[in-house]
Amino acid sequence: MNSERLKVELAGLSLVSPTMLASGILGYSAETLKNVAENGAGAVVTKSVGLKPRSGYANPTVVHVACGLINAVGLPNPGIDEFTRDIKEAKAVLKVPLVASVYGFSAEEYMVVAEKAVEAGADAIELNVSCPHVKETGAEIGQNPNVLAEVVRKVKGAVDKPVFVKLSPNVADISEIAEAAVKAGADAITAINTVKAMAIDIETTRPILSNKRGGLSGPAIKPIAVRCVYDIYERVRVPIIGCGGVTSWQDAVEFMLAGASAVQIGTAVALKGPSIFRSVVRGIDAYLRKKGFRSVKEIVGLAHRS
Ligand SMILES: Cc1cc2nc3c(=O)[nH]c(=O)nc-3n(C[C@H](O)[C@H](O)[C@H](O)COP(=O)(O)O)c2cc1C
Repeated sequence: MNSERLKVELAGLSLVSPTMLASGILGYSAETLKNVAENGAGAVVTKSVGLKPRSGYANPTVVHVACGLINAVGLPNPGIDEFTRDIKEAKAVLKVPLVASVYGFSAEEYMVVAEKAVEAGADAIELNVSCPHVKETGAEIGQNPNVLAEVVRKVKGAVDKPVFVKLSPNVADISEIAEAAVKAGADAITAINTVKAMAIDIETTRPILSNKRGGLSGPAIKPIAVRCVYDIYERVRVPIIGCGGVTSWQDAVEFMLAGASAVQIGTAVALKGPSIFRSVVRGIDAYLRKKGFRSVKEIVGLAHRS
């Protein structure tokens, strides 16, 4: 759908709609990402990639629970050197920006992976400082404002593309962490990654996931994510990308009213397929028309107005 109302500028990226594929949800083959874009996504975020290949955890890695999924996949990925080929192939066919999600076990590693992703053609970097189920990376970095700031500074010093920082809700005050990221140079904040969670099989009496603990996603976490976006909007002046439980255009509008300039969709794409983008994008456009807004930008943060 090509509507002027839906276009947004996000930290220097031009998006045809304020929707994005969230990290880690689909395979990252060029064809898959192209399909997502053709359904209306304004940008795509890749699975998180690190310096070296990782096989991830043994099955089961995902469990369905009421209103969501709990996953502990363990960041499986082929490593950045192999992954640069996927980025190049995707860039050759994609007409929307490609954001490479990166993780590392040190600031140096984040920097090297980000540099290689940008060299391969990534239009922006999203720092995964929020994965809840792998030790010494992800949330263990994103929970500590000083360590996080060091990662952001290193990456910003090394790449000339926008850097998004994806935050964890598993902290006492997410807006404080967002502020630390922005002071260190973050161009946008993505909120949120999954919420720490667990499920136990009452027949076997054991935790279901091989990793025992995982991260909850889907509609169950939407109210948490909306609150996080609302809090962050009050604290920082960079664009916020809302993420967590979006399954309809109404959810997307709610995130934008809370302060998100765009939303990412994850679990709903995994469960319903890429056509979810089509219905969300059409729904936002119809809402704007009905309410008399000329641009989607006009509704960003409206819930803060008294
Ligand atoms: C199976 C699965 C794998 C995920 N892998 C990643 C990942 O590699 N990197 C990352 O930053 N987030 C990852 N996430 C988190 C999502 O990108 C998103 O932040 C979260 O699921 C909340 O959004 P949703 O409710 O729309 O799924 C993953 C989520 C799921 C369900």
